[in-house]
Amino acid sequence: MAIKEILTAPDPRLREVSKPVDKVDDALRALMDDMLETMYDAPGIGLAAIQIGAPVRVIVMDLAGKDEEPSPLYFVNPEILDPSEDMNVYEEGCLSVPEYFDEVERPARCRVKYLDYHGKEQVLEAEGMIATCIQHEMDHLEGVLFIDHLSRLKRERVLKKLKKEQRLAAAM
Ligand code: NI
Repeated sequence: MAIKEILTAPDPRLREVSKPVDKVDDALRALMDDMLETMYDAPGIGLAAIQIGAPVRVIVMDLAGKDEEPSPLYFVNPEILDPSEDMNVYEEGCLSVPEYFDEVERPARCRVKYLDYHGKEQVLEAEGMIATCIQHEMDHLEGVLFIDHLSRLKRERVLKKLKKEQRLAAAM
């Protein structure tokens, strides 16, 4: 396993639409292992493959609390089914948009159909934080960031700040 570099906005690779996975094999499991290790190291609760530069439809998540056993989830080719009409608002953040948090409204519940770590088809009934998290990560597969759900003014302000920080970091 290896910790990979996490791409940050406005890196254009984060805007790519990720491609479906043909087969869950050892190479894909190695990618999922790297993603999980990278996510834990960051630390974060969810990561899409494109965030480490791999444009494939793979997501890892772990919503276990600090004092709980790790409980990693792996989603290959996930699809959202039956998003609820009622909505939830959570304060979201993203490893690709460092140090910025804001409220986003999304369907409160949904079902997610996906292949697991072993390539077996699964359906997850998601509700609350896990529903928000999976929808946030699914957005990454379409090249969408959570700041795209905010007003244009807010989004431009965040991106401007990130660009400035990246210029400073490159100059050091
Ligand atoms: Ni994110």
